[in-house]
Amino acid sequence: TWTMLNIVEDAVEAVRQQVGPEGRAICGLSGGVDSAVAAAIVQRAIGDRLTCVFVDHGLLRKGEAEQVERDFVAATGVKLRVVDAAERFLKALNGVSDPEEKRKIIGREFIRVFEDEQRAILAAGPVDFLVQGTLYPDVVESGGGTGTANIKSHHNVGGLPDDLKFSLVEPLRTLFKDEVRRAGEELGLPAAMVWRQPFPGPGLAIRIVGEVTQDRLTVLREADAIAREELSRAGLDREIWQCPVVLLSEVRSVGVQGDGRTYGHPVVLRPVTSEDAMTADWARVPYDVLARISTRITNEVRDINRVTLDITSKPPGTIEWE
Ligand code: XMP
Repeated sequence: TWTMLNIVEDAVEAVRQQVGPEGRAICGLSGGVDSAVAAAIVQRAIGDRLTCVFVDHGLLRKGEAEQVERDFVAATGVKLRVVDAAERFLKALNGVSDPEEKRKIIGREFIRVFEDEQRAILAAGPVDFLVQGTLYPDVVESGGGTGTANIKSHHNVGGLPDDLKFSLVEPLRTLFKDEVRRAGEELGLPAAMVWRQPFPGPGLAIRIVGEVTQDRLTVLREADAIAREELSRAGLDREIWQCPVVLLSEVRSVGVQGDGRTYGHPVVLRPVTSEDAMTADWARVPYDVLARISTRITNEVRDINRVTLDITSKPPGTIEWE
């Protein structure tokens, strides 16, 4: 729209002013809409003086890494460094089942990988600016301060090391989520990114109850992709806040498929409606949609022989299982 166009243009101009004619900036991309829109705005303002870093921790859903590496880059022309750190994260998570322990490990590894990248980028010349996708509600929540980094660590993977002093560039500081999405459309970002539902920084690792293994990730990724596809096809994307699919990798149940007995794992569908994730209700997804998801997952995903539905509101249940 006309106003959104102005908002984007103003944001681009403000970044140009802040960073100046020589300044360089870096930006971490997560696959989410906020960092993507922030990066796209800064790219418009300063072009190749922005370097984006995408740490692929191997815990994203099907197609999401490609969305960043291929579609987002094609749409924006952003200069991107991709770090394939999947093996490193898996190794660090080896043998770990405790949810908070998983989060801690992922946060720690993320910082280490990001720091290595920063060093490599800094070797090519000084960088004074760090781009963050901070939204207006985050600004209000944290008391409205500006300036150097005081980054919330609880919500994004990682947070950033304290010893690196950057000035923050926060082009989304005055925007609400829906405005960020419209800005993303205005900037021509891939629709799947712009309309992506909330997804936790630690990714699929906290949707596998039990240890995280490559094999379990593969299974969960397939089941999740089917659920997302069918919910989208049914036109429910805007109604449903998010729908975690959770793999109960340490539970087995007997099933029968074709002419054989199976002894596989259940997945849990956790579709919720919500305004802000603080409270949530389980979504009344139509039975025929649930039926299609169930049939497809049990037919198409090996090792899964049961699909269950979580009908707990928040509170008492959280949205995620871990
Ligand atoms: P819960 O499970 O606490 O989740 O009801 C509320 C919202 O936060 C997301 N979530 C996270 N996001 N890092 C994140 O970036 C995390 O560790 C994390 N844990 C939960 C969750 O997907 C939901 O939208």
